Amino acid sequence: MTRWTTLLMDDARLRALPGPPAGGPAEDTAGPGPTPLELYRRWERQQWSAEALDLSGDRQAFADERHPAVMRDMLRSAVTTFIIGEYTGLDMLGPILTGSPAEEYTLFLGTQTADETRHTRAMFRMGTEVLGLSADPRTMLAQAWRLATLAHHELALLEGEAARDVRAQPMDYGRWLRAVVLFHLITEGVLALVGQRVLVHALREIRAFEGIRTAFVAMGRDESRHVGFGLHALRRGIQEGHAEVIYGALEEAAPLALRLDTEFDGIAVDFRQMSVEVLRRHLGRIGASPVFVSHLLDHYTPRITPRTDREQE
Ligand SMILES: [Fe+2]
Ligand SMILES: [Fe+2]
Repeated sequence: MTRWTTLLMDDARLRALPGPPAGGPAEDTAGPGPTPLELYRRWERQQWSAEALDLSGDRQAFADERHPAVMRDMLRSAVTTFIIGEYTGLDMLGPILTGSPAEEYTLFLGTQTADETRHTRAMFRMGTEVLGLSADPRTMLAQAWRLATLAHHELALLEGEAARDVRAQPMDYGRWLRAVVLFHLITEGVLALVGQRVLVHALREIRAFEGIRTAFVAMGRDESRHVGFGLHALRRGIQEGHAEVIYGALEEAAPLALRLDTEFDGIAVDFRQMSVEVLRRHLGRIGASPVFVSHLLDHYTPRITPRTDREQE
């Protein structure tokens, strides 16, 4: 799958721009789920403003000792993780946009770039205005990086390597699919989705941090479009015979993503179980083979072994 792009034209071919593909445009039959064009239309309808968020009450609530320390720790951990995550997503999206294998994918990825810009701005504001981190983004990122867990560091470095690979050879479809596994399926589809869901739920329970909750609800809606795009692209990749590269990337990244839950202390949420369930659902949507899914995920699911009669006596 290769889109129309001047990247493919050298000087000698400048006068001979490619015409329309023989037999008309390739049919995008990846379904189920929305197509990139439908996701684009949804993006036009779902705009919000990071600048308009009111974080003044959140700042007071964060300083308020009445909120349990575990809650404030969770909030600090979530905000710093998303500061790195959103900024990295924005920073690394360029190669993925340039390496896009289809024209309608390029259109969608443009909307995602705008979204990640807005998410990064929202996170920078939360970092400064609520947590009291430096207002200088470079200092804030260094502070947040120091607070992030080892597994987050490893995953961010893996993403950086995948983005560099795509940048070196933007028309290599396999490299592009690997990057989409890391960014769209694992980071956005599992980590961000589960993290946002748990945080929004917890904030709703304690009826505080309205500004942060509003931002995470809006970001979650954006992320679900990004994940929808990733699932579409990967499903189509598998249909076009690239299952091996997709499975290889999943084997690299899934153990890292599923290790993160062990690194949150004092929070009574089974991140791993939620993550495994979400990932299993995504793998069903991209049409991964059941044998591969079982190989990747079954050992994370605690098996209930029936007790023998002798043990019950
Ligand atoms: Fe984002
Ligand atoms: Fe995203």
